[in-house]
Amino acid sequence: MKLEEKLQEISDLINERMDDLLPSISEGVKGERRIAEAMRYTAMSGGKRLRPFLVVASADLFGVSRSSSLQVAAAVEFLHAYSLIHDDLPSMDNDDMRRGQPSSHIKFDEATAILAGDALLTLVFEVISHPTTHSDAIVRSDLVQTIAQAGGTHGLIGGQMMDMLSEGQELPLPEISRLQRMKTGALFALSCELGAIMGKASRHCRNALRGFANDVGLAFQIADDLMDAEGLSSKAGKKTGKDALAGKATFVTALGIEKAKKQAQMLVEQAGKHLDVFDHRADVLREFASFVVNRQR
Ligand code: IPE
Ligand code: IPE
Ligand code: MG
Ligand code: MG
Ligand code: MG
Repeated sequence: MKLEEKLQEISDLINERMDDLLPSISEGVKGERRIAEAMRYTAMSGGKRLRPFLVVASADLFGVSRSSSLQVAAAVEFLHAYSLIHDDLPSMDNDDMRRGQPSSHIKFDEATAILAGDALLTLVFEVISHPTTHSDAIVRSDLVQTIAQAGGTHGLIGGQMMDMLSEGQELPLPEISRLQRMKTGALFALSCELGAIMGKASRHCRNALRGFANDVGLAFQIADDLMDAEGLSSKAGKKTGKDALAGKATFVTALGIEKAKKQAQMLVEQAGKHLDVFDHRADVLREFASFVVNRQR
């Protein structure tokens, strides 16, 4: 099966599970229904589902049941959806289009967007800690802790803070790399690591997957920055040409388009080397790495 077909197949399963886990829009009082509607509006609006794919593909390496891996994959996508809603807020990137439709704060209002993001983040931990996610409570607690770390001060949130502070600044390349590994690489690395945790993999395998996904995450963010610089908004489903206007520090602003493209390719090769321990069983992950830097949206 081709990678695109596999992505589609897993994406359908993830969407089903997300639908089951999200609160219903017809239950509770007005406030509960509005939050449920806003959570679903962004979470169910057709993202590429790349991070949940990594969760499932990594868990598959260790024979984890799909029932567990899809649950954890859905939770990772909720975390990602929260980060997108907050990333678009007027006080952050001030973007009014996301996934081909008006951003959450445009469709609803700012307070609702903030609360919907908060509710998605909270739902992550409700889902992960639930006994149906994994039969072993120690595994569940490791999942919770690893997610909290990746999403926190030294991961996604710290990276987003650095990103905001970078506006109008010329950062040295190692700092841009650190910023992007935190704001984006951390969730990619997390996704693979969660698969290893569910499968009670050895430290060696867990670190190999983390290393792989951290490089892929950085390559993916460079591809996103390239798309912002030269892509079409209609394809990307979000406004392009905004990073330069906002004075964001990216590989593209620091190196220019051609060198940034080379850097992304180099990272994909570097990423693949981490997977030697899995030989051909990790081919789908190797293919995924090339796919994310060559994508059009
Ligand atoms: C967008 O991520 C945010 C970044 C980290 C660049 P994706 O490009 O994976 O967004 P969706 O989920 O497909 O909408
Ligand atoms: C966002 O990076 C990373 C997140 C943690 C959400 P960007 O700000 O470049 O993402 P887009 O381009 O708005 O999707
Ligand atoms: Mg941003
Ligand atoms: Mg943004
Ligand atoms: Mg971007």
